Amino acid sequence: MHTREIQEAILKLKKEKDAVILAHSYQAPEILEVADYTGDSFRLSVVAKDLPQKTVLLCGVRFMADTVKILSPEKTVILPVPEATCPMAEQISPERVLAYRAENPGHKVVAYINTTTALKAVCDVCVTSSSALKIVGGLPEKDILFIPDQNLGSYIAQQLPEKNIILWDGMCPIHGMITPEECAAAKAAHPHAKLLMHPELPASVVQYADYVGSTAGIIQYALSCSEDCIIGTEKSIADFLSYQCPDRRFYQLSKRLICPDMRLTTLMDLYQALRGTSGEEIQIEEKLRLAAKHAIDEMIRLGD
Ligand code: 13P
Ligand code: SF4
Repeated sequence: MHTREIQEAILKLKKEKDAVILAHSYQAPEILEVADYTGDSFRLSVVAKDLPQKTVLLCGVRFMADTVKILSPEKTVILPVPEATCPMAEQISPERVLAYRAENPGHKVVAYINTTTALKAVCDVCVTSSSALKIVGGLPEKDILFIPDQNLGSYIAQQLPEKNIILWDGMCPIHGMITPEECAAAKAAHPHAKLLMHPELPASVVQYADYVGSTAGIIQYALSCSEDCIIGTEKSIADFLSYQCPDRRFYQLSKRLICPDMRLTTLMDLYQALRGTSGEEIQIEEKLRLAAKHAIDEMIRLGD
């Protein structure tokens, strides 16, 4: 089948099956084209809570599909490629968080949304990269444990010096490995381009940015400025921007900024999942779901 034929088949099946497609902005253009909603983790979470369709297909990674199921338990939620996970989501065990809480009862525990459902269930509130500053800044507590991304956590701590933010030792294995040397090389190669970065990059790299923001923030900034840009996040965002603005150049900060998990889902996987021949239906035990839902509800309440 050709790409266009698969897309047409997906659009037809979507109607027949009363299904809706949510796709993270890191997904391939041919998937974004057939999706009903696209965006960063925060937007997908907000959209997920009141969808009219009875089946939701989530193109992204597992914690995103889990978030949809946590918010809409009555829906059939399908992850087209079950192996698509975020390695950072599993870098901490809930037991370690519970032990921390027992020793520090006054501390608020904030979880990046890139966490497992079991971790969310032992935290007070979730954040995404686009809502973290607003949510953490608005919390009445001064002492905050931020899990698991030490890079996003240290970026927030820098912006909110009035808070005592305790960091954990996790990070995104893709963004986290980028070095200041790669940054210097990209700047030297494209001296007139603006440097836009995701806060999952290490602080030693982020200090050189002209703009720091979430996936959605980077897209918005790049679309509204007129200069060429160096994009410091997953390669898909530079590709997306090149499609949107063919007369401008969007360079990769590093050729290593490719997330294998976000790249797993193909248009054919989505088609097969819609046909019911592949994919995984997300199941979450009710007690766990309710515990995790509290942290996501708080995120939407405080961040929207
Ligand atoms: P956003 O919250 O910006 O969508 O980021 C999700 C993610 O996994 C970034 O690597
Ligand atoms: Fe997880 Fe990093 Fe991939 Fe985002 S880019 S899904 S944080 S591994």
